[in-house]
Amino acid sequence: MDSEPHGRLDALQRDPYPHYERVRSADGLVFVAELDAWLVARDVDVREVLRRPEDFSSANALLPDVMPSPAALAVLGGGFGGRPVVVTADGDLHQRLRAPIVRGLSPARVAEVLPYTAERAAALVDAFVKDGQVELMSAYARRLPGEVIGRIVGLDPDDVPAVVHGGHRAEELLFRPLEEAEQVAAAEDVVAMQHILDRCVRERHARPREDLCTELVTSLTTPGELTLEHRHELVAHLQNLLIAGHLTTTALIGTTVLHLLRNPSQWELLCAEPERIPAAVEEAARYDSTLQGFRRVTTVPVTLAGTELPAGATVFVAFGGANRDAARHPRPDEFDITRPPGKHLAFGLGVHSCPGSQLAREQLRLTLAELTSRLPGLRLAPDQPVTMRPTMIHRSPHRLHLAW
Ligand code: HEM
Repeated sequence: MDSEPHGRLDALQRDPYPHYERVRSADGLVFVAELDAWLVARDVDVREVLRRPEDFSSANALLPDVMPSPAALAVLGGGFGGRPVVVTADGDLHQRLRAPIVRGLSPARVAEVLPYTAERAAALVDAFVKDGQVELMSAYARRLPGEVIGRIVGLDPDDVPAVVHGGHRAEELLFRPLEEAEQVAAAEDVVAMQHILDRCVRERHARPREDLCTELVTSLTTPGELTLEHRHELVAHLQNLLIAGHLTTTALIGTTVLHLLRNPSQWELLCAEPERIPAAVEEAARYDSTLQGFRRVTTVPVTLAGTELPAGATVFVAFGGANRDAARHPRPDEFDITRPPGKHLAFGLGVHSCPGSQLAREQLRLTLAELTSRLPGLRLAPDQPVTMRPTMIHRSPHRLHLAW
């Protein structure tokens, strides 16, 4: 791939906020070449797109930034999946695919998993609390969400590390420019994850349990029959659900702790008044939104923000841009956990809005409860500058070195 366009995309991904600012203050919409899309970054316009799913299809929501090489594609061809999933489906198909996920992530199911989540959060902190320092992404943020969503889906705990790893590798393969050999290795890790998910599908089909994998298997197959096509579809759904469930939450744990510690008075306030934890989570989700945006494609000619778009036009719907729009959030570039709750769009809106938002919020709250109560002296390690990962879908620090 030509390195210069990728370099510009990389720069936009690491710091998209000046781009949002620029397009918000322009007349109408602006086409942004790096994203190959019309960038929608005002709160009012993002809401309009999300409220008109029949005019703005999700078919291109997961369009990769980088097409894998033929050798990597050949490896992927030996795996499972590659079928439409809830986030890329429209209309009736979308409703059919979403229903079992909503049931599997219901408030009651989330409540059931909370004791396990609290126990795991405490155990992960136990492992480093005496060390005086930690790299939080690897020791905690990349671990808790995978364990929790693994439990909800019904994965064998021994399989969770390979499934989490496979999710990160899928993201790298589709969104980062990797060397050829690295692409093939990443594709192999993705396929290994898919085989684990396929085993889970076959086991739950034979012996149903009270878990989300069973929920998906029973609602998307006919009784007594599990065809190869069913297995491909189910692995695609599980892979999408797991990636949507753990990479996002991992990222938000990272950015939440980062911004609290970059603003030490906010961290001190939170330690003194932990009842502010839910508000701190909302502010972190608003201020540096994990899922910065997804694409949509117009199904008919539309006029948006006064700009006429033909059918088939790609728009990039920037939740992260809407969340920094001064028309909705006064002083949008200030991280302030005391701000009155304003409606941010970090978890989307409308038919595709995030069905896992409660689960994500609970994990963030438990994390902040653990860290504020056990490590109030937490600070960013002074000699380890923080860099952001170049991604629009799982915005987070690469590494987060902390000390106390
Ligand atoms: C910090 C954590 C999270 C953030 C910021 C987040 C954000 C979002 C957003 C903005 C959407 C809407 C996408 C669109 O409009 O196209 C979405 C959809 C989705 N999220 Fe989340 N999410 C998070 C955690 C989770 C978790 C924990 C799960 C599952 C356990 C999950 C599962 C999904 C699924 C399946 C969809 C697609 C829904 C549909 O298309 O109908 N997410 N998420």
